[in-house]
Amino acid sequence: MTLCVLGVESSCDETAVSVVRRDADGRVEVVSSVIHSQVVKHAVYGGVVPEIAARSHVETIDDLARLALEQAANKGVTADDLDAVAATSGPGLIGGVMVGLSFAKGFAFARNLPLIGVNHLEGHALSVRLTEDVAFPFLLLLVSGGHCQLLAVRGVGDYQRLGTTIDDAAGEAFDKIAKTLGLGYPGGPALEREAVTGDATRFELPRALLGRKDCDFSFSGLKTAAARVAMEQVKTPQDRADLCASVQAAITRQLSERSERAMKLFKDMTGAERPAFVVAGGVAANKTVRARLTQLAEANGFRFVAPPLEWCTDNAAMIALAGLERFALLREEAGFNAADFRKESLKTVARPRWPLDEDRAISAPIHKKSGRKGAKA
Ligand code: KG4
Ligand code: ZN
Repeated sequence: MTLCVLGVESSCDETAVSVVRRDADGRVEVVSSVIHSQVVKHAVYGGVVPEIAARSHVETIDDLARLALEQAANKGVTADDLDAVAATSGPGLIGGVMVGLSFAKGFAFARNLPLIGVNHLEGHALSVRLTEDVAFPFLLLLVSGGHCQLLAVRGVGDYQRLGTTIDDAAGEAFDKIAKTLGLGYPGGPALEREAVTGDATRFELPRALLGRKDCDFSFSGLKTAAARVAMEQVKTPQDRADLCASVQAAITRQLSERSERAMKLFKDMTGAERPAFVVAGGVAANKTVRARLTQLAEANGFRFVAPPLEWCTDNAAMIALAGLERFALLREEAGFNAADFRKESLKTVARPRWPLDEDRAISAPIHKKSGRKGAKA
């Protein structure tokens, strides 16, 4: 049976709306996808300012939704063809999440459609399936400005977190170090450009969590060390390029070490033959990171897969697809009642924190001390 879902994303600094359709044979089509990036608005501050982000979502969401529906109509898909509305309901900047979720609720209520609250991380986890029918289980490395996690994706709604960051995300580390060096925002691409002419062996930077053999990440020590080198030893453009190359190498090394451990765990857990190693999130755009992870996947019997960049970074098509895949499963459950579900779904709440693998987050919390702020998810 064909399913068609409108997706809404507003958890960080991108406002996005999309219509996604899946036909009876499981073929997925992104019917329309529009994104409004707020990068320019935040660039002057060197990072995302939550209040500015929320306000911008409010200002743009109506027009974006209209545009996404217009584009869909040009392809013969109208609002009457929609089966559900999906919106990111966490984790993320709460003001922004509330804007998108409230919009989606209003739209769903007005059109008598069910609402599916989607975990933003689940959107990233399934984004690869927008273009390729990647089989479950697969190993996922999610590396963006907000997230840095390794997940075993066993099926829709069935995730096991193998590792996560105990402080910053990898993209956040790129951004913060770039800011210290006076490079633009977002810092990742700027740092990568600088690194091209740099010597990656020039500065020795610390390796994180050396005593541990698990798959967790940490980038705060690297950030502090890079700031110290920048202050004490960076005098010329060449020094700066060398530091950028050294930082990029250090981040790449950490990502690849943890990924390799996760590959071994994953193989032991699943016994899967040449499973996919999916790398999603903005950092997947980095050529050095990508090349190293491709090599690593091959060496460990995995198939390297990175979704096209437009689906790698924040977008609403991945939210629509995650909502669609979830809704399809829900409808098959015994005792599913469409009217009750529709009514109940409007009670979905926005969650600033929402681990994808709740069991693991409860049994092995990253931040054990009370009152301490945790990593993004
Ligand atoms: O997935 P994304 O667009 O947004 C979320 O954070 O959810 O990822 C953006 C992050 C930023 O931190 C940015 O600096 C980083 O991805 N990034 C890169 C590169 N392109 C984007 N980091 C390193 N090298 C790049 N070429
Ligand atoms: Zn994201």
